[in-house]
Formats: sequence, structure tokens, C-alpha cells
Amino acid sequence: MKVLLTGGCGFLGSEIASRLAAAGCDVCLYDAFLCFLESKEGRSRHEFLRRMRLRKLEGRARIERGDVRDGKRFAEVLADFAPECVIHLAAVAGAKECAAMPDEAVSINIDGTRTVLHVCKEAGCVRKFVFASSSYVYGHFAADSVDEELHPLEPVEIYGQTKLAGEILVRAWAEAGAFSRVIIRPSSVYGYGDGNGRITQICVENALRGKPVVLHEGGESRLDFTHVSDAAEGFVLAALRREADGGIFNVTRGRARSVAEFAGAVRTLCPAMRITAGGRPDAARPKRGTLSIARARRLLGYDPKIDIEEGAALYIKEAMADPELQTNQPLRT
Ligand SMILES: NC(=O)c1ccc[n+]([C@@H]2O[C@H](COP(=O)([O-])OP(=O)(O)OC[C@H]3O[C@@H](n4cnc5c(N)ncnc54)[C@H](O)[C@@H]3O)[C@@H](O)[C@H]2O)c1
Repeated sequence: MKVLLTGGCGFLGSEIASRLAAAGCDVCLYDAFLCFLESKEGRSRHEFLRRMRLRKLEGRARIERGDVRDGKRFAEVLADFAPECVIHLAAVAGAKECAAMPDEAVSINIDGTRTVLHVCKEAGCVRKFVFASSSYVYGHFAADSVDEELHPLEPVEIYGQTKLAGEILVRAWAEAGAFSRVIIRPSSVYGYGDGNGRITQICVENALRGKPVVLHEGGESRLDFTHVSDAAEGFVLAALRREADGGIFNVTRGRARSVAEFAGAVRTLCPAMRITAGGRPDAARPKRGTLSIARARRLLGYDPKIDIEEGAALYIKEAMADPELQTNQPLRT
């Protein structure tokens, strides 16, 4: 199968691409190489990690530079590659960045999605459209285990709102008969290669650099941390399995753990790691927790395996080979 991934050079996209290529798919990545982080160090690290990810994909995927808002360029790439499946991941992918640049978030996450859908429909080759949504579409979690059917969709900040708008656009185009669609709602994906400055990246990189990690509210927030290999496998199943068509799926570990537990899992392996409480909690963030993955298990055969203890160990093992993270900290591996 020919699969095109918008935002395919990003953290999640490059892992999905690698798995699709290993499964024998012909893969094309369409990406504008954007970074929405503010700090100079964050941007430079983001750029470095992107280069590392792309090196791993060399010779295994075709890479086309382009913006999802540029319909003409996207149409050219689509006409030339003629994919049967498009996985749309390009986005301002962080809640903090969306809040800091709402115009950019709306422009990429909503207008960009509409452009991608329109071009896919016009191209005529696309049979299936997989959309990377987010658990932020649920807003504050009102159940111990949030499922796709019953939980209200009430996003409380701009990232979740743009993702819900994206879902609605995808459904509209699919219902108009353009192609079949699958909506995936991941949460708190982590692992080596993430350059977006999420708390998991901060924990591992600060631990290896001997810098303290500051946890807001003592790290009490509970998130459904999902190792990137599990999340990517969910997307691959969504793309390749016919049973996915028309579905909406939570694709997570299926078990929330606290941020403090994640930091603790890293500290078990980096005993010198310093963890402090402080900073200001982000009042706009929804209260989250566990997502039910029963539907993805049943219909896709999705079977995530990696808990944070193992995931942190995998992350650190890969990070130790990173030339920017050579560490003199004691490690238990
Ligand atoms: N990582 C997570 O925890 C998580 C959780 C839920 C949902 N998601 C969703 O999954 C997708 C991928 O997330 P990620 O963590 O890999 O993010 P990422 O930032 O690493 O990757 C996004 C990619 O999209 C590209 N991009 C951004 N704007 C673009 C544009 N206008 N045109 C073309 N390319 C553009 C970027 O250059 C980047 O390579 C996003 O849609 C995100 O909202 C991620």
C-alpha cells in the first residue's frame, strides 16, 4: 500500500513511517519542518532530533517538503505519489504552543486540515484518511476510564478545540463520500526522538544532563502515558486494517499514571536525578486520566505493552547514544 503522512517527519510520524516501511508499504512524508517552541535551546534541540529521526528513515521513505496550507504544492505531491491512504499528523501539536499562537494553531490545525481533505478528494486516489486527533477533545475527564462513545466532547482550550474541529471536518468529507476515515485519539506519547519539550523529554534529558526537574503541583496530574512504539502501532493498524474504517479509537496505554510516577521511573535508572516541586500549574489544562482502549483492542487487535517503567528504560537507553546527551551521571541500566 502507498501511504502518505503529513507531518511525517515529526516524532510520531517518523515512528509510524518506519513501521509502515517495515511492513512493506511505500511511504511518503510531507512536512514543512516547523518548530513552535519559543526558547533558542528548545528549537536547536528540536532541530537536532529531527535530523536524527530523518537519518533513520534514509532510503526507506520519500520526503517532500511542503506546508499543509499550500494546496497547490500538496496537490502536486499527491498527484505524483498517488497514495491510497493518507495519515494526517501535521499540526501545532502542543497545548502550550497552541495557546501561545492561536492564529497559527487555527490556520494549521483547522484550515490546513480542510486543505488536505479537499486536495485528497480532488486527487481521487485516496481511499482512506487517518486523522491524528487527541485526548484533549474530551476536555476535563468525567469518568475513570474515558470511552469514545459516551464521554462528552467538551475541549476547554484551543488545542483540543482545533482537534475537535479537525475531526468534524474529516467526518464531513468522509460522509460526502470522498473516502473512508479513521480518527485516532492518542495521549501523552513519549520516547526518544520527541523534541517538543514535553514533561517526559524534560525528565529524561534533565536527568542525563544533571539538571533538576521541576514538577508542577508535585507531579500529581495523571496522564495516560503511551510509549511511541505502542502509539505508532495503533496508527499502523488503523491504516492497514479494514475493521478500522469509519471508527474513532483511543490509542493509548489504557492506564493513567502520575507525572511524579514517570519522573520516579526515570530516577530509578538515574539515581542522581533531582526532582523538585514548583512552578505555576497551567490552569487552562484539562484534568485528564485513563482512556478506555477496549474498542481498539476489539476491532484493531491493538495490544499496547509498555508501562512507564519499561518505557523510561527504553527512552534512556536510546538517549545514551545521543551525542548531545553524553552523560557523566551514574546510571542503573
Ligand atoms: N505526541 C503526543 O503526545 C500526541 C498526543 C495526541 C495527539 N498527537 C497528535 O499527533 C500528531 C503528531 O504529533 P507529534 O508529537 O509527532 O508532533 P511533532 O511536532 O513532532 O510533529 C508534527 C509535524 O508536523 C509538521 N508540521 C507542522 N505544521 C505543518 C504544516 N503547516 N505543514 C506541514 N507540516 C507541518 C512539523 O514540522 C512536524 O514534523 C499531531 O497532530 C498531534 O496533535 C500527539
